[in-house]
Amino acid sequence: MTTISRQPSAAASKTSDPLQLIDVDHVRFHVGNAKQAAFFYAHCFGFQIEQVSDLTTGNRDAATYLLTQGNIRFLLTSGLSAEHPASLEVAMYGDGVKDVAFTVFDAEKAFDKAIRNGASVAPGGEPRTYRDDAGTVTMASIRTYGRCVHSFVSRTGGYDLTQVKQGGTFAPRFKKLDGQGSALLAINEHNKKHPCGLKYVDHLVGNVELGKMNHWVAFYENVLEFSMFKHFDDKDISTEYSALMSKVMASGNNLIKMPINEPAPGKKKSQIQEYLDWHCNTPGVQHLALRTDDELHSIAALRSRGVDFLTLPDAYYDKVWDRVNKMLTEHGHHAVKEDHDRVKQLGILVDADDEGYLLQLFTKPLQDRPTLFFEIICRRGSQSFGKGNFKALFEALELEQERRGNL
Ligand code: FE2
Repeated sequence: MTTISRQPSAAASKTSDPLQLIDVDHVRFHVGNAKQAAFFYAHCFGFQIEQVSDLTTGNRDAATYLLTQGNIRFLLTSGLSAEHPASLEVAMYGDGVKDVAFTVFDAEKAFDKAIRNGASVAPGGEPRTYRDDAGTVTMASIRTYGRCVHSFVSRTGGYDLTQVKQGGTFAPRFKKLDGQGSALLAINEHNKKHPCGLKYVDHLVGNVELGKMNHWVAFYENVLEFSMFKHFDDKDISTEYSALMSKVMASGNNLIKMPINEPAPGKKKSQIQEYLDWHCNTPGVQHLALRTDDELHSIAALRSRGVDFLTLPDAYYDKVWDRVNKMLTEHGHHAVKEDHDRVKQLGILVDADDEGYLLQLFTKPLQDRPTLFFEIICRRGSQSFGKGNFKALFEALELEQERRGNL
């Protein structure tokens, strides 16, 4: 398996700040049926369904599948009883993101510092260590917006993240997928031969309620010691009908960026408000942006697998090349090197800033509720989020909202 390292330099040591993040350990989803969700994400997005923790590994409460691609690790968890927290949450919110977990040197110390910084402990989130002969995995979790949590994860022995990246067992009570899931093994074989090229989580966007953006910006600054990376207001991101405001928080080493959106008043309902309406009026993760080095390859592969993407009007491409290439020339960068006709054929969006350009595309919602979706992003120097596309994109989103009767 190819491993992509985004770890800080070797100079980072255990004596560093306890809140120094080494990696995104995993993103956990609570889903209605983990086995079937695993098949969906493997089939549509090319993930390997690598490991499972369920009744057959002594887990009596829940079934969890580990899906991997590049340096992305998803855990898909379903409760095995009505009382399991995952079952209760799925009943309220549908499938979605529960935990954005960070690998740290010492989970307990990171947790203690976050609590001292003002965090509250997540339900069941006190530090706990899972151990067996191979090593240990320690986890401790704090609350963030809505039902979401951040877990700190530290690992020893065979459970060290570098071992996990090379196919080692994820944690005690996990095992490699075996003959019990032959349909899952078959999709794994197909995916090895037909990779989609997704590498890691580039950013992860949260939708919060009106008036709460600055509250959560302060939370990320004070508790996790993130800093403000960019912000956009409703003048940047608005159409005739709807608007939003967004601030981007980044971890100290820029390992992860977490934009936070709040709705802004518009003539009709914003996409953020639509999300909240279908998410029990509770904040949550709106989209995960997955990074690729080759947007054209990834989008072609995902389209061939049946992934539904937002469709932009053809007119978008009448202006985009002038806009983007003018910006690139002004700042001394090369023009967009990807084939322009192919970009249009695949419906990919392009934007540029003073540092370079990016290619991006957004899926439609990944479940029946208009809540979580993915973005597929490729950066060629640009570190922003496609501000130049917001207006065109919002108009496309509004068409979809209208089709759902939610505008
Ligand atoms: Fe994004």
